[in-house]
Amino acid sequence: MTTELQATVDGLVQKGKGILAADESGPTIAKRFKAIGVESTEENRRAWRSLMLAAPGLGQYISGVILYQETLGQRADDGEPLPQLAARQGIVPGIKVDAGKGPLALAPGDEITQGLDGLAQRLEGYRQQGARFAKWRAVYNVSDQLPSRAAIEANAEALARYAAICQAQDVVPIVEPEVLIDGDHTLARCAEVTQAVLQAVFVALHRHGVALEHMLLKPSMVVPGKAHAAQAQPAEVAEQTLRVLRRTVPAAVPGINFLSGGQSPAEATANLDAMNRLGPHPWRLSFSYGRALQDTAMQAWRGEAAHAQLAQQALLKRARLNGAASIGEYGA
Ligand code: 13P
Repeated sequence: MTTELQATVDGLVQKGKGILAADESGPTIAKRFKAIGVESTEENRRAWRSLMLAAPGLGQYISGVILYQETLGQRADDGEPLPQLAARQGIVPGIKVDAGKGPLALAPGDEITQGLDGLAQRLEGYRQQGARFAKWRAVYNVSDQLPSRAAIEANAEALARYAAICQAQDVVPIVEPEVLIDGDHTLARCAEVTQAVLQAVFVALHRHGVALEHMLLKPSMVVPGKAHAAQAQPAEVAEQTLRVLRRTVPAAVPGINFLSGGQSPAEATANLDAMNRLGPHPWRLSFSYGRALQDTAMQAWRGEAAHAQLAQQALLKRARLNGAASIGEYGA
C-alpha cells in the first residue's frame, strides 16, 4: 500500500526535476520587487506567481512548488486556483509554514525560527487548500563564535518538532537548515558549521520519531562567505559539500534539494552539476531554488504583462539547466 506521504515523496523526488521556491514572505518579495521597480501589491504578487506557475511545460523540470500562504488562496487570470494550476502542470503544491526568524534570547547574533504554536491546525487548512508538503527554514549566522551551541540545539529541536507535526498530518516536511553565506568566513569554517548543524538536526529528528523516508532535506552548500577573498570552484564546493552530507545525512533520506542562498544562477547550477558528476549518491541531489530560478525571469518581467512570455521562457531556461544539473548533464 502506498501511503499518502510516500505518494507525495514520489511526486517530489523525480529524476531530472527539482523544486521551485516561490514562498517569499511579505518583506522579502517586496525587496525582490523593489529591485525591478515593482510595487508589492497583492495583485502584483498574484500576477508574478501565476505567471510562473502557468509557464508551459514547467512540469518537465519542476516537481514541486513552495508557495506562501497568500498564494494558496489566489487564482490565475482565468479563475483557476493556483494550487490547482500547479497540480495540473504535474507540480506538487507545498507551503512555507514557519513564521520567520527572530533573535535567540541571551545569544547575541544567533537567530531562532518561530511558528510552532497552532501549526497542526494551520496544516489542516493548508491541506484543504491543496498543499501536500511544507517547508520550515532555520538560519545560522557564521563567525568565529557563531552559531552558538544553544542556537544549533534550539533550531534542531524546532525543525524536528515541525517535521513531526507535518508527518502526523500526512504532510511531507522539507527540513531547511540554512548556514548563511554572509560574512568573510572560509570554506572550511562553513564545512565545520554545516556538519555540526546537520548532525544536531538528525539527532533531533530521530528523537522525535520523524520517518526519514518521508522528508526532504534542503541544506545550503558548503561555500566560503560572500566577503571572503577566495571564492571556490564547483569541484571544490562539490567535494566539500558531499563530504559533510555523507558524514551526517542517513541514506534513508530520499532527496536533498539545495537552496541557492545568494549564489548567482550560474553558480548554483554549476555547483549542483559538479556534485551529481561525482555520483551515484545515496540520495537524489537536486535543487529547491528561489532566487537562482526566479532572478532572470523577474528581470525580464519587470511588472509588465506584455513581458510575461519572455519571463516564462527565462524561468523555463533556468529550470531546464538545473534539471540537467540534477543528473550531472549541465553543459554536457
Ligand atoms: P534561495 O534559493 O533564493 O535561497 O531560496 C530558497 C528558499 O526557499 C529560502 O528559504
